[in-house]
Amino acid sequence: MTLKYFLFLFLVITGFNDTYAQKFENLAQTPPMGWNSWNKFACDINEELIKEAADEMVSSGMKNAGYEYIVIDDCWHGERDENGFIHANKEKFPSGMKALVDYVHSKGLKFGIYSDAGWQTCGGKPGSRGREFQDAQTYAKWGVDYLKYDWCNTESLKAEGAYLTMRDALYEAGRPIVFSICEWGDSQPWEWAEDIGHLWRTTGDIYPCWDCEEDHGDWSSWGVLRILDMQEGLRKYAGPGHWNDPDMMEVGNGMSVSEDRAHFTMWAMLAAPLIAGNDLGNMSEETVNILTNKEVIAIDQDTLGVQGFKYSSEDGLETWFKPLAGGNWAVTFLNRADTEHEINFNWKDHMVKDPDFDYAVDFNAETYSIRDLWKHKNLKNTQSPFKAVVPPHDVITLRLSKK
Ligand code: GLA
Repeated sequence: MTLKYFLFLFLVITGFNDTYAQKFENLAQTPPMGWNSWNKFACDINEELIKEAADEMVSSGMKNAGYEYIVIDDCWHGERDENGFIHANKEKFPSGMKALVDYVHSKGLKFGIYSDAGWQTCGGKPGSRGREFQDAQTYAKWGVDYLKYDWCNTESLKAEGAYLTMRDALYEAGRPIVFSICEWGDSQPWEWAEDIGHLWRTTGDIYPCWDCEEDHGDWSSWGVLRILDMQEGLRKYAGPGHWNDPDMMEVGNGMSVSEDRAHFTMWAMLAAPLIAGNDLGNMSEETVNILTNKEVIAIDQDTLGVQGFKYSSEDGLETWFKPLAGGNWAVTFLNRADTEHEINFNWKDHMVKDPDFDYAVDFNAETYSIRDLWKHKNLKNTQSPFKAVVPPHDVITLRLSKK
């Protein structure tokens, strides 16, 4: 046996492969879909509420429409024990976290949990700093499928290193877990997180308003249009397994039906994670119809995995295009304004070119059939101009399919 061969065998036997931690591949090949407790319930959570959310995800038709993860956000935590292992808060989660995870799994759903790279979470609960490997082991033992990892109380930490540590800890723990990076875009995670996480927040927190800034003193949360505008320039960084995350949805949390519809649609156009943040046990029919519109969900979940782009903008009316698999396209007319907007879009006057990727469409060379994804109706084709009226704060969304 040559020395080289011997060395090779030695390395194989001692498992040198395992020393290279990495991100779990093949997860989140389309943007994750699910529900998270934070937007509606903040710290006011308990095991009954989470179990009910799982039940309601099934009974509302959301599971059937593709929603998968039940994610428990901040404030589930109790104390660490004498060996440093974290436990759920005993009053709020008397059956323990493993039982809750098992319950969610028994509904055919997956379970997500929340922690923080700092010494405390944003809600003042124990963070994972210095305990990353131990916490990852705990989550894996509980059967967790998704980790949202926040960025409060991280003074003196560098984001890339902190998230890398937790990525490695998850890999070491051995259970495939979707890793959701939540550092609010502060240090441009889109530039370094492709090999670290499966999605990364691009902005501060969302707020259920159309176009406002909600001032919390030393930080702000943002309305739908504000967050939408902050996505500019980021689409080239996203793709299957690594998504820009413009934050969880506020559909059903107080905006008008038009605004909710526009919000949901624009998240789909952005190939954003579709994480509902409302009370699933208390939904109006309109909210259910929006969240379970399978035709719009199909735009979000399209296997090509390319975010849409703003093609034009005039007088508060934006036209967005999103390349889809098979040479098809989604088109959304977004009316940001307070008054209705007439559209007269002559396809043949437009040569649409993706600014970041190699997709283009010439409506003089090709004819597409048109389907309205909110009216659920087939329209004519791209030979004749598209004429319609978009109500204020609303959208019209079309799927163009090759003939
Ligand atoms: C941060 C995150 C939110 C939520 C809270 C919990 O603000 O951005 O999404 O997780 O913390 O405290």
